[in-house]
Amino acid sequence: MCDCCSEDSLRLNILVLLGPPGGGKGTQAKKIVEEFGYGHFSTGDALREEVKNQTEIGKQAKAIMESGELVPDELLGAMVKGRIERAAGTEGIILDGYPRTVSQAEFLATFTGDMQVSAVNIAVDQEQIVKRLSGRRFCPGCGTIYNISFSPPASEGICDKCGTRLERRKDDYEEVIRERLRVYEEKTQPVVDFYRESGSYFEVDGNKSPEEVFHEVDKIVRSV
Ligand code: AP5
Repeated sequence: MCDCCSEDSLRLNILVLLGPPGGGKGTQAKKIVEEFGYGHFSTGDALREEVKNQTEIGKQAKAIMESGELVPDELLGAMVKGRIERAAGTEGIILDGYPRTVSQAEFLATFTGDMQVSAVNIAVDQEQIVKRLSGRRFCPGCGTIYNISFSPPASEGICDKCGTRLERRKDDYEEVIRERLRVYEEKTQPVVDFYRESGSYFEVDGNKSPEEVFHEVDKIVRSV
């Protein structure tokens, strides 16, 4: 029996976080980790790490990510499968940013058939997204995310937790944000429909505050 078919993995809860760029997937994932002890796998973070380390995957992904397009499915398949296999026996795992195409969703289904897969879609209005993403800053030291409008650091441009200078993602400028939203509508909205038909699909209003959104997410995670 391989790792991904063991009894441990059959009990694994997989929580697919869906939602537009800047919808708050990463923000809510951190809260779920704190509250429920789930593992967190963000394909965006994993790809940025590959880019930083100048790996073969990183070299292929860099320009694509900076333009707001999606990287080819085959760059991520083995990475996601490996991460889910390593989560066997844990409370659960959050997939943040995967799947993003129907073919990725179909690939995921090929090896998670006996696991509990639930999808939570964080729905947010487009203009709110542009405001959130153009205001997002992150700490390259400890990974804390800030927003200059909604959750600024105490001292401008400096991380409250570790004192590192904050940075702005290259894809968080308005032109690229608009392209990411276009790609989302074209390629990822069909994934929402895919899960809506699957029976374990939930939607929350992501326009509210992070705490209010988490109040809804919390109830969902407890119910699955
Ligand atoms: P990725 O990093 O996954 O980007 P994304 O999906 O566009 O999502 P973001 O990380 O931008 O936003 P988020 O929803 O996590 O929001 P956050 O919580 O940070 O992917 C980047 C790129 O990698 C893609 O464009 C693609 O090229 C590639 N890629 C990744 N996965 C792929 C895949 N599966 N297939 C192919 N390519 C892939 O919040 C955003 C901001 O808003 C923050 O400042 C935050 O503080 C603030 N905020 C959050 N919630 C609230 C709230 N409720 N109220 C007010 N402000 C809030």
